Amino acid sequence: MKLQRIGVLTGGGDCSGLNAVLRAVVRTASIRHDVRVFGFEMGFDGLIFDRWQELTTANTRDLLTRGGTLLGATNKGNPFDYKTREKNGNIRSENLSAQALDNFNRLKLDCLIAIGGEGTLEIAHQFSEMGMPVIAVPKTIDNDLAGTDYTFGFQTAVQVACDSLDRLHTTGKSHQRVMILEVMGRTAGWIALESGISGGAHVILIPEIPYDKEKVLEKIRLREAGGHPYTVIVVAEGASETGGAPVISESAEQRLQNTDRLGGVGHALARDLESQLDHEVRCTVLGYIQRGGSPNSFDRILATRLGAYAVRAAVEQKFGSLVVLRTPNLALLPLAEVAGKVRLVPPDCQLLQTAEDIGICLGR
Ligand code: F6P
Repeated sequence: MKLQRIGVLTGGGDCSGLNAVLRAVVRTASIRHDVRVFGFEMGFDGLIFDRWQELTTANTRDLLTRGGTLLGATNKGNPFDYKTREKNGNIRSENLSAQALDNFNRLKLDCLIAIGGEGTLEIAHQFSEMGMPVIAVPKTIDNDLAGTDYTFGFQTAVQVACDSLDRLHTTGKSHQRVMILEVMGRTAGWIALESGISGGAHVILIPEIPYDKEKVLEKIRLREAGGHPYTVIVVAEGASETGGAPVISESAEQRLQNTDRLGGVGHALARDLESQLDHEVRCTVLGYIQRGGSPNSFDRILATRLGAYAVRAAVEQKFGSLVVLRTPNLALLPLAEVAGKVRLVPPDCQLLQTAEDIGICLGR
């Protein structure tokens, strides 16, 4: 049976390139296959509460370069575990998946394209198990999804962090300071590692390698002894000291989600280092700047390829799949194989070796 109507949503935290995927989905669907596209608003909320808009080549024009997502996104609102806070403060959880599936069927959709990260892919997989035809597209600045070489949004975030490190170098050198940049990434150190190498950081601290503060101090002192009395450090928000725990800025319960919000390690490290150095130490938390704004050319291309490929996969009825990048090609993997799996920096990652080969301290 010919595909006629597809739904699309953007779930989880946003990143650069979401709009570029939407544009590619709509253009491929309408120009190539004469298929109508319906966009659900605010991730799975739109599916649960029947909030959507029809997307056309006209209303998705000029989206390639635009940051954010035309449809809105939320990292709350899991239809299988929909949490709300009651007046007495108690958290109430409901399973609204049947309601979402009803709305999907009432709109007579032939497929849902779910664009998102780990949480979204898990939900997409659960819907797929319930019989909904789903194709998923991997998104996150963290680059931590299993099965794909890169997620879109990551390279743009790395570029923003790299540019920031370039700037911290010059001011750090002027004032002979230790400059710390805290970047995002949840439990994965990809952003810290790639931005640290591209931005010439002297120390890179990632969640996968608990750091020894003494090693960091040793690096700073060595640089000083060598005539370089300033040091640039990039620390991933999920990094922690050996024997310690990641610094949490908001608990899962406070934010009605399954995971804590990370953040604060940069300032904690700054306090720790400053107490043992003559140098001044300054910390910059890069935060959401990594997620906003226009995608770089790598992410524009990847997002466009993923969107077009997802529609092709839908037309060919290859449901229950995730579109992945296996350089240089795109491919499909069963959602069952990848949903819920994260990809951390492996101990044998060549980038780690490269970093240490050129004298970058990884805190070990
Ligand atoms: O997963 C993307 C990400 O930006 C992480 O790097 C970060 O830890 C988290 O989202 C922040 O989430 P929120 O948007 O809920 O603050």
